[in-house]
Amino acid sequence: MSRMVIEGGKRLEGKVEVHGSKNAVLPILAATVLGNGISVIHDCPKLKDVASSIEILRGLGCKVSWQNNTVIINSENIFTHYIPEKLMREMRSSIIFLGAIISRCRKATISMPGGCELGPRPIDLHIKAFRQLGIKIDESHGYISCSVDKIACGDIHLDFPSVGATENIMLVASLAKGVTTINNAAKEPEIVDLQNFLNKMGAKIRGAGSSIITINGVDKLSSVEYRAIPDRIVAATYLSAAAITGGYVTVNNLIPSHISSVCSVLRECGCKLQQEANAITIKAPKRPLPVDFVRTLPYPGFPTDAQSPLMAVLSVASGTSIIAENMFENRFKHVAELNRMGADIKVDGRIAVTRGVERLSGAKISATDLRGAAALVIAGLNADGITEVDGMHHLDRGYESFEKSLSKLGAKIKRVD
Ligand code: EPZ
Repeated sequence: MSRMVIEGGKRLEGKVEVHGSKNAVLPILAATVLGNGISVIHDCPKLKDVASSIEILRGLGCKVSWQNNTVIINSENIFTHYIPEKLMREMRSSIIFLGAIISRCRKATISMPGGCELGPRPIDLHIKAFRQLGIKIDESHGYISCSVDKIACGDIHLDFPSVGATENIMLVASLAKGVTTINNAAKEPEIVDLQNFLNKMGAKIRGAGSSIITINGVDKLSSVEYRAIPDRIVAATYLSAAAITGGYVTVNNLIPSHISSVCSVLRECGCKLQQEANAITIKAPKRPLPVDFVRTLPYPGFPTDAQSPLMAVLSVASGTSIIAENMFENRFKHVAELNRMGADIKVDGRIAVTRGVERLSGAKISATDLRGAAALVIAGLNADGITEVDGMHHLDRGYESFEKSLSKLGAKIKRVD
């Protein structure tokens, strides 16, 4: 397994480009199953999770080729409705294929996606919605088997604005006769991107980005060409890397409104941010200011995926900050590793109290999840001396060429396999 070796203390300066959004591309790749021609998806980042999705598509019978950041999918022949356990285990978000496969094949068999590093990842909201749409679901021996003659329409209320459940309902209802409404839908930008992709295929979906989405089922969807939105969490991570090094960086290829909650917190840290149409330039103070209270919430609240990079920044702030992690049960696993670097962070349940220290010190540390891995790497950019972060296979699930981009900004960082 590869690790990153970082010599901290270099102020980041220059320009960096954000790649396409992992969390937009994954449901869009699943949605290509609903067309039976050739789909071309641009700005697909070269990530492990995208590779896993491609393997699932191939396993279903699609022909898939991947040229640079473009994925070409021929979904004419789907010859199975089954996703093997190994692929389901590799990526928890493969649950997003459930709706697409049911819609195409009227049945689907997948293994329970299982938990992940963030804690249990239930899918009760997905299952409850599918049952409301007339889908018969049997959960036994670790597998979920779904079957339906005719997908019904319905008025669904999500107990929680789950991103995955919202996406799965959109996928399963797009080709169902009648109008399906999702109340308390997730409002993330990736949901809007999925709506735009499906509507380009011929779907009739309205309301994505708000809490009420209506899907007016159509008879057929065509395979199309599409470009995914930029990855707002990768953008937030680069801004955090600039903030922790007192840097002066322009982050290109982003949609500023997608990370307004992150920009607001970074301004509280004393950073100056200048926004253009598709870029943000950040000028960070030598040492960030503390932030009284940050709570992670569904969009447009502060994104849980940016919590750990922000915590790395606050670990060297000139005071004490409090973070509440409301979205996942176990998303503070980077804290122990930051404390090994001299941070002073105390966790009690969903609350982390970070008393800023002058500077972190280099250490050998381990990443255990995707966004925690990014946080530990950017902590190394600040630390005095050498930091070695292992477990970089976690980082590779969500960041393409991360160390190359940071090197271009002046970081002393290298990957050791
Ligand atoms: C998506 O996960 C993202 N993944 C996550 O990003 C992100 O953290 C999350 O949304 C929240 O924004 C992708 O888009 C591929 P949820 P998802 O369903 O859909 C509970 C990353 O780092 N819940 O909105 O799984 C769940 O346990 C990843 O890129 C139920 O209780 O998130 C969690 O506490 C990590 N029952 C909360 O809702 C359900 O049926 C949010 O989950 C479904 C979810």
